[in-house]
Amino acid sequence: MRKPLIAGNWKLHKTIAQATELVNSLLEKLADVKDVEIVVAPVFTALPSVCRQSQNSAIMVAAQNCYPQTEGAFTGEVSAPLLADCGCRYVILGHSERRQLFDEQDEFINEKVLSVLAAGLRPILCIGETLEQRDSGELFEVIAYQLRFGLAEVTAEQMTDVVIAYEPVWAIGTGKTATSEEAAEVHAYIRGLLQGLFDHEVAEQTRILYGGSVKPGNIGELMAEADIDGALVGGASLNAEDFSAIVHFPKPLRMSNTPLP
Ligand code: PGA
Repeated sequence: MRKPLIAGNWKLHKTIAQATELVNSLLEKLADVKDVEIVVAPVFTALPSVCRQSQNSAIMVAAQNCYPQTEGAFTGEVSAPLLADCGCRYVILGHSERRQLFDEQDEFINEKVLSVLAAGLRPILCIGETLEQRDSGELFEVIAYQLRFGLAEVTAEQMTDVVIAYEPVWAIGTGKTATSEEAAEVHAYIRGLLQGLFDHEVAEQTRILYGGSVKPGNIGELMAEADIDGALVGGASLNAEDFSAIVHFPKPLRMSNTPLP
């Protein structure tokens, strides 16, 4: 069974002091959580302190980006081995804000995925369509393209470390969530693609997160869908109460260990 994963993407928010305060409060509120993997992604400057703080806890740390080369004359960049050295376990890659604001293309994102895996870290590869693409009937084509290119040259063995995040661009930061049916349809499609690109085992083991205006009020409905294995949370992850409520989502029956009567 796939272990649910809830990741908080803090984007460009929080000083070191504010990040420390949020993690302290999460460590307290999430101390009881055993059945959900918890990840937080602070800005680069807060990574060392958050990594130290969350050592030996259930909270794992992600970076929000990295550069595919390991070292060299690349002013202003940070590489995957340096993120591993800092104590990170995950790296968010291909986020729609990187694709749109920094013009990141699938080939470049794929280089990053490969460098993150080579450094022993786990990529959270984000894919998703714009509203324009959805409206013009290109949804499945866009998803297939981003997934295929993003995972080029990744082996079935390496896929145990890969997490996919489906984030419809029109639902990010807009308060507009895809309905659980809309999300479930794309998640099932992604799982089918993984089966074609790799095999049944990879498709069954890979976690596919949903992202886009996830809140305490809609996480239960989303997690009730069989192919939704967690969430990548932006805005609501900046608040300890909300993020904790999301991590404590009501468990659907398939995730409960209680035998049915
Ligand atoms: P949001 O962001 O939850 O604020 O919509 C999600 C994301 O960008 O990962």
